[in-house]
Amino acid sequence: MKRISVSAERNYDVQVDCDWRVELATLVENRSRIAIVHTDAMRDAVALPANLAAEVFYFNLPDGEAAKSFETISKLWNWLGAAGFTRSDLIVGIGGGAITDVSGFAAASWLRGIDWVAVPTSIAGMVDAAVGGKTGINSDYGKNLIGAFHSPIAVLVDTSWLSTLSDRDLAAGMAEVIKCGFIADKEILRLLKGQLVSTLRADLPRVVALIEAAVSVKATVVASDFKESFAREVLNYGHTLAHAIELHSKYSLRHGEAVAIGLVFAAELSNIKEHLNPDVVAMHREILSGLGLPISYPRQAWSELLPLLALDKKARGKKLRFVAISDVAQTIRIDDANENELTAAYERISS
Ligand SMILES: NC(=O)c1ccc[n+]([C@@H]2O[C@H](COP(=O)([O-])OP(=O)(O)OC[C@H]3O[C@@H](n4cnc5c(N)ncnc54)[C@H](O)[C@@H]3O)[C@@H](O)[C@H]2O)c1
Ligand SMILES: [Zn+2]
Repeated sequence: MKRISVSAERNYDVQVDCDWRVELATLVENRSRIAIVHTDAMRDAVALPANLAAEVFYFNLPDGEAAKSFETISKLWNWLGAAGFTRSDLIVGIGGGAITDVSGFAAASWLRGIDWVAVPTSIAGMVDAAVGGKTGINSDYGKNLIGAFHSPIAVLVDTSWLSTLSDRDLAAGMAEVIKCGFIADKEILRLLKGQLVSTLRADLPRVVALIEAAVSVKATVVASDFKESFAREVLNYGHTLAHAIELHSKYSLRHGEAVAIGLVFAAELSNIKEHLNPDVVAMHREILSGLGLPISYPRQAWSELLPLLALDKKARGKKLRFVAISDVAQTIRIDDANENELTAAYERISS
């Protein structure tokens, strides 16, 4: 097991390759109540031994984005109230990023903040959602618009969860790992070169090394810039077009799939602006498509994507701004791309 410490508004460890039940048992000593927040499909997998000193409550939420709604958060608040949760009790979110986001927000808001533990079960959760202290739910006006910064007291990454994760979700989570490689860590790209989902599944030590490396990238960035200004923005590599594609596709693509397309777009844009060598652009395509991730989007969608791009929350003032790279692990910002250049970059990724 490796501990990666994150220093944010509190210091905590991401414990990679641990047994979540063993680690949780030590974290719940001296707590009277713990709430396990999970989805229906995980009901049996999250059961804790009956001999714990703490009283355990199981809160079952809908799957996916439906967990991040007003209805579910108000249900959670009511359950916490009915169970008599106090400041010294603990919430444990066990699931993908949707479950850890809403569990963290319940912890942030109940009694103005109680402790919580994240037990991410998807790659996206392990390397991204559960690390960094952002918690929240969706609003009718967009994703993640309501929330709070509230770091967990620990993140327990147990890779045994991955055996039931679909290939599609495994690959989608890896898109964020690949992003971390391009913005900050060549070793990630070396570990992923030539890999397929099937070869990754057969090589758990490699998956653990990738998760550790990606968590380290995120932990370093978050420590330097907890509340998202310039430095944290590098984590948005590939995300400007990805957010537009998610909206355009009405969320039929996984976030990581949209990020995969967005990464190739950002690399092509950087190449058009003469910052990035074509070999590095090709490396984006090779690694992403090797894992079965999409790297193109329909040509006719561009006229609808362009106005959506401007809506991206990372747009500063009137200028569109892209995180890009000039080489592996060399991030830059592109804020002077004109419409012709954007269109040319899109042309290169369109199908
Ligand atoms: N807080 C942050 O900083 C942050 C960062 C990135 C993403 N997010 C959020 O995270 C969410 C995306 O995370 P996600 O991709 O994990 O989505 P998700 O939570 O919707 O999970 C995707 C699917 O995988 C299933 N799943 C998860 N673990 C499984 C397992 N071990 N076995 C079988 N099925 C499993 C889920 O039930 C779901 O159907 C989004 O809501 C996004 O906004 C938050
Ligand atoms: Zn992302």
